[in-house]
Amino acid sequence: MDPPLRFLVLLLLIGLVPPDASSITEDFGYCDRVVRKWADYSFDQEVREDKHTLRDLLFFLHVPRTGGRTYFYCFLKKLYPSSLECPRSYDKLRFDPRKPKCRLLVTHDDYSMMSKLPRERTSVVTILRDPVDRVFSTYEFSVEVAARFLVHPNLTSATQMAGRLRSTTKAVSTLDIWPWKYLVPWMREDLFARRDARYHRGPINIRSSNDSYNMEDFAMPLLEYINHPVSEDIIHNGATFQVAGLTNNSYLTESHEVRHCVQKHKSLGKHVLRVAKKRLDDMLYVGLTEEHRESATMFANVVGAQVISQLRAQNSTMDIVADHTDQGSPSNSELDNNDHQSGTLDTKAKKSAPIENGEATEANMTVGKLMGAYEACISSLRKDQARRRTSSLKRISPVNFPREARPQVPEVVLQRIRSHNELDLELYEYARDIYATQHKTIMKKFPKESWENIFSSRNDFTFWKAFPLTITVIFVLIFCLLFVNARRRTLKVKT
Ligand SMILES: *[C@@H]1O[C@H](CO)[C@@H](O)[C@H](O)[C@H]1NC(C)=O
Ligand SMILES: *[C@@H]1O[C@H](CO)[C@@H](O)[C@H](O)[C@H]1NC(C)=O
Ligand SMILES: *[C@@H]1O[C@H](CO)[C@@H](O)[C@H](O)[C@H]1NC(C)=O
Ligand SMILES: *[C@@H]1O[C@H](CO)[C@@H](O)[C@H](O)[C@H]1NC(C)=O
Ligand SMILES: *[C@@H]1O[C@H](CO)[C@@H](O)[C@H](O)[C@H]1NC(C)=O
Repeated sequence: MDPPLRFLVLLLLIGLVPPDASSITEDFGYCDRVVRKWADYSFDQEVREDKHTLRDLLFFLHVPRTGGRTYFYCFLKKLYPSSLECPRSYDKLRFDPRKPKCRLLVTHDDYSMMSKLPRERTSVVTILRDPVDRVFSTYEFSVEVAARFLVHPNLTSATQMAGRLRSTTKAVSTLDIWPWKYLVPWMREDLFARRDARYHRGPINIRSSNDSYNMEDFAMPLLEYINHPVSEDIIHNGATFQVAGLTNNSYLTESHEVRHCVQKHKSLGKHVLRVAKKRLDDMLYVGLTEEHRESATMFANVVGAQVISQLRAQNSTMDIVADHTDQGSPSNSELDNNDHQSGTLDTKAKKSAPIENGEATEANMTVGKLMGAYEACISSLRKDQARRRTSSLKRISPVNFPREARPQVPEVVLQRIRSHNELDLELYEYARDIYATQHKTIMKKFPKESWENIFSSRNDFTFWKAFPLTITVIFVLIFCLLFVNARRRTLKVKT
């Protein structure tokens, strides 16, 4: 035996090298230690500082299917010049530290990304959604994107074509981005298999049901989808794992073991929730997909206003007219490109374009204008989305996921989804509380009618910042007066 091998055998004998990692996670005691250790470490990492102030870098932790795309295109792209966007957000190559001065990062990467960022100078924001709706939406989107490939005669040709398109356009496609890079190929393969089976069976034998979520001749039924191991890997409890930094896509090697332990031993989930809740607490902003309009308004007022003032201040001291090689709007050119809900553009793939949404915008951008621009932007994004969905689902008609179909999904299926997503259900409830508190705070400061008006005045943010300050100054003045008065009186008494 050569020395390294002998050493390994020795280690095995004394039990230092686990013979099989998966059997280890079966052991509750072991898992308990691993998860606790991770949780304690994560707690210590949290920055304890004023969370209400926007720091240098804004990290938009985009949980898939929560509507984050509209915030990216309709708010953040209008606020930040592309020169300040961190390169390769959403990219399979992940965060690129070559541009250390970037100020905006929007990605499906999980919280473990923070290990690559300047933690004390980073503000995190996110949006959460009702977990059952999020699962529905993930299923529908997986099927929708996969169905686009059905233009091809067979799976081989579809896969080849997709690969060729990606290598020639260099644009980042849905297939490059987690979680779609797993979900779409999986569904694509499934759709082709079902189509082939239909051909062989002949039209007479196709069963006809009217429940879009259960048409097994055309697409994988929802129930089968959610019970599949891939869904366990990347969909269920996805929001919690993403906020905890424990997704299947995590940067930290130990996180995979922690996740497996938590999936195996449900009772350990409480440690993950503890960490995830603390992180939500420390975020600059937490939005809710369900409260869409109000969440957006709050985002504009809480985050948008600070970005405007921050960039304005920075502009006066620093030249940010740098490489504007990116373009501000999603393009729909390719079959599967830039169409995932968080549209992505590769900087290199875009020709240099004169910037209409760069520093020109931020020079006289106000929260009022921002909201106006948002409304227009979101309606065009929505139209575009609906158009693509219709044209894609046409290929697996009669599957079309109409709004009326969801309430008809049997309770057992919903129950299944809930039981797979217990952590997410609890985290979502928690997020609703945070949202309510946030909302109350801001409403107390500014009554509803004046929300947008206050901020659309020219020096909006100065007011926002100065408001508590003014009150404090007044209080201090009153206090001083009282004090001086009191002293004068006591002096009088003495003399
Ligand atoms: C798939 O389709 C392509 C293009 O029509 C064809 O050349 C190829 O032979 C097909 N492959 C299979 C396995 O049927
Ligand atoms: C993530 O999930 C996919 C799909 O189930 C799987 O193929 C892949 O190996 C997983 N990656 C990790 C690191 O667990
Ligand atoms: C930012 O700087 C440019 C030139 O350096 C200037 O034209 C522009 O007005 C400035 N914007 C603000 C908001 O100060
Ligand atoms: C910003 O202000 C300048 C001069 O005040 C004006 O010419 C320009 O049209 C304004 N831009 C926007 C987007 O409102
Ligand atoms: C499916 O058919 C049933 C009975 O015909 C009907 O009550 C129901 O509304 C239909 N559902 C959908 C989604 O069309």
